[in-house]
Amino acid sequence: MAKQIGRLTRLFLGSIEALVYALEAKDKYTAGHSRRVHEIALAIGIELNLSGEDLENLRWGSLLHDVGKIAVDQCVQNKPGRLTPAEYEHIMIHAHVGAGIVKPVVNEKVVEIVEHHHDHYDGTGLHQVVAGKEIPLGARILAVADAWDAMTSERPYRQAISVEDAHREIQRCSGTQFDPKVADAFLKTDASCFTFEKDKMAIIYTLQ
Ligand SMILES: [Fe+2]
Repeated sequence: MAKQIGRLTRLFLGSIEALVYALEAKDKYTAGHSRRVHEIALAIGIELNLSGEDLENLRWGSLLHDVGKIAVDQCVQNKPGRLTPAEYEHIMIHAHVGAGIVKPVVNEKVVEIVEHHHDHYDGTGLHQVVAGKEIPLGARILAVADAWDAMTSERPYRQAISVEDAHREIQRCSGTQFDPKVADAFLKTDASCFTFEKDKMAIIYTLQ
């Protein structure tokens, strides 16, 4: 019985994952984002010696973290210029909306990862209610992986920045936007475990 429930849960989560990929495939700016974030987040989790259960939660949290973007106006999401504060606020509803979407099918820890993935370590994020170590560790990991992939990907309003600059940015924001322990773990990540193409992580070792 437990085996069957596990199989059904994975099937259901896999369907949501397919929905995320379909959403991302709609434009070239987000294509593959969740898959890459998933790989980076897991590598950080392994570097931090997370348990199998925590890694599994991180896996689903990272694959599903942006599912709430289904509620975001495409005109705002793909706006070629700088966002107004109101537009930025609108886009950021996706974390809360996403948590609501996944809640019926995942455990509370995964819901929290999705809900808090844009929280800043120092508490300065938009409408943030927790800070520091009160932010679930999975969400702190996702914050680094998500930001790094976003910076190194082209967006409608800006070019991608280089891998080197993105790494420096993670270092610069360690202790403010990002948990320093997580930022350090990211910088030690083993690049060889990534399946995506970009020559992304090779620079890591030269920055340390
Ligand atoms: Fe997000």
